[in-house]
Amino acid sequence: MDSVRPYEPGDRDACLDLFDSNVPVFFDVSEREGFAEFLDEMRWPYQVIVRDGRIVACGGHAVEADGVTAALCWGMVDGRLHGEGLGRRLTEARLAAARAVRGVTAVRLDTSQHTEGFYRRFGFTVEAVTTDGFSPGIDKYEMRLVFGDDGGR
Ligand SMILES: CC(C)(COP(=O)(O)OP(=O)(O)OC[C@H]1O[C@@H](n2cnc3c(N)ncnc32)[C@H](O)[C@@H]1OP(=O)(O)O)[C@@H](O)C(=O)NCCC(=O)NCCS
Repeated sequence: MDSVRPYEPGDRDACLDLFDSNVPVFFDVSEREGFAEFLDEMRWPYQVIVRDGRIVACGGHAVEADGVTAALCWGMVDGRLHGEGLGRRLTEARLAAARAVRGVTAVRLDTSQHTEGFYRRFGFTVEAVTTDGFSPGIDKYEMRLVFGDDGGR
């Protein structure tokens, strides 16, 4: 049984394991330090999915200075468990959390060529593409979703 709960400091190593399980296809190892710093600072709502006592997915959102945009940050599913519906569950939880923030009307995210198709399924559209934007071979896709009356779908 999977459950979603807020990140706790003791989850740090498990989340780094999730990152490692997605290297090198989805993440470059050079990004690891930035993720570790993000976890240590933990300034924004961040959620984990727990399955049988083990963390299998994590992701959060940050409200930007304009107060109307939430940026999805550091979302990932254990690389050994892709394709089991965890990404959908995680994304729905993050979008619900962002939508619940008073004033937030849109969500943006930076992702890669490997996952932009996944986020299109939730209504995100591509606004810009930078070849090798994250690292050699991992392009940066800037995507945006504007919440509508239908819940943003
Ligand atoms: C993107 C990611 C979260 C998807 O997680 P997942 O658990 O494999 O996705 P799900 O099993 O919930 O898939 C939900 C649906 O999206 C589809 N899907 C999954 N990955 C997809 C992809 N890369 N492109 C297009 N569709 C995809 C599935 O086929 C499924 O379709 P269905 O509902 O018709 O069956 C996962 O690949 C991941 O963690 N990647 C590494 C981290 C990463 O790159 N994050 C990007 C932002 S930093």
